[in-house]
Amino acid sequence: MIVTPWEVSGEIDYSKLMEQFGTQPLTDSLLNRLKKYSGELHIQLRRGVFFSHRDLDWLLDKHDAGEKFILYTGRGPSGDVTLGHVIPWLFTKYLQDTFDAKLYFQMTDDEKFLVNQNLTLEDTLQLTYDNALDVLAAGFDPKKTCLISDVKNAQTLYKIGVEVAKHVTYSTAKAVFGFKESSNIGILFFPAMQAAPCFLESVIAGRNVPCLIPAAIDQDPYWRIARDAAPKLGYYKPAQMHCKFLPGLGKGGKMSSSMPETAIFTTDPPKVAEKKMMNAFTGGRATVEEQRRLGANPYICPIYYYELFLFEPDDAKLAEIERTCKSGDLLCGEHKASLAPKIVKFLNQYQERREKAKAVVSECFIDSCDKKLQKAMGLERF
Ligand code: TYM
Repeated sequence: MIVTPWEVSGEIDYSKLMEQFGTQPLTDSLLNRLKKYSGELHIQLRRGVFFSHRDLDWLLDKHDAGEKFILYTGRGPSGDVTLGHVIPWLFTKYLQDTFDAKLYFQMTDDEKFLVNQNLTLEDTLQLTYDNALDVLAAGFDPKKTCLISDVKNAQTLYKIGVEVAKHVTYSTAKAVFGFKESSNIGILFFPAMQAAPCFLESVIAGRNVPCLIPAAIDQDPYWRIARDAAPKLGYYKPAQMHCKFLPGLGKGGKMSSSMPETAIFTTDPPKVAEKKMMNAFTGGRATVEEQRRLGANPYICPIYYYELFLFEPDDAKLAEIERTCKSGDLLCGEHKASLAPKIVKFLNQYQERREKAKAVVSECFIDSCDKKLQKAMGLERF
């Protein structure tokens, strides 16, 4: 298995990954603690979609002691947004609502320009704007959400970025990210830009502010760099919550915008998405007769996981899907037909909110010329 910010392949063993990355499991006691703030646990917590963390207990202690934390997450605008990307964003919205937290949302248009040979800087900047509509369509409170384009708002992040970069050696970055002799020098520096928003609120507030980052586990290498640098710069280490990957429509592998043939995009016409899903790989048998006799395997089936991650909020109904799939009572065609209207409804609603976001999106980008921000960052003298 390979899990890096730029490549996810092979069969993913999440327990091994936690061991390899040195992260902690989200235990029942932590889940119970979270339940106290929100009443009911979010679907992605109940079902182990978010499964791992760093320093969440510390962060909640700080919160209980009266120190508000900020949320930080992001998107690398390399194409249209898939249902996979939306998974941690919906969870982040739940955290924003539950803790009334400010959110910094970074658009890494520099990263995607640097790693993707086919994208120009104009392409990634255009995608930043397009993808930002999807970000807001996840339901974030525009008044408490600050979007940052690395390229357009570079002045906001660069000062923190170079400070982080000075504390990261080439050998550490190479070990963490697997850089090669052929890697361009832009991408060697880039991890410092992704670390920068972890400390942005502390810089603006002039005191340490805890930060929680919800994201899939592929982003974890960045937080190792950020957490190493934090104490050297006098900041709190950022805390993380990690989620699993929503699978693509094919056999194995995560849903990804770089593999459009196995992805459902938020901008897909609902009927197109439905058709793609109807043609997806499943955990079914070769023939109906075999499936009735032997049952199917939900644990390798993207259709089952779409229900689990997103589309079937009722735990009892999900358990029934799992049971009937395994017993052979539910055939794959029947299951797909019952999932189809849920996907169509989800996309219709998402696309409506995406349209509405056009009216507010430009106000949500951080203003790099903001005088207060410049002052906080010690830039107003220059
Ligand atoms: P990007 O654009 O690759 O992914 C955006 C977010 O979606 C998560 N993700 C998924 N989650 C579940 N299932 C999937 N199939 C799936 N595919 C992607 C990613 O983990 C991520 O949370 N470098 C980042 C952008 C970024 C960022 C951040 C992300 C900048 N700062 C802070 C998270 C937190 C990127 O290219 O993400």
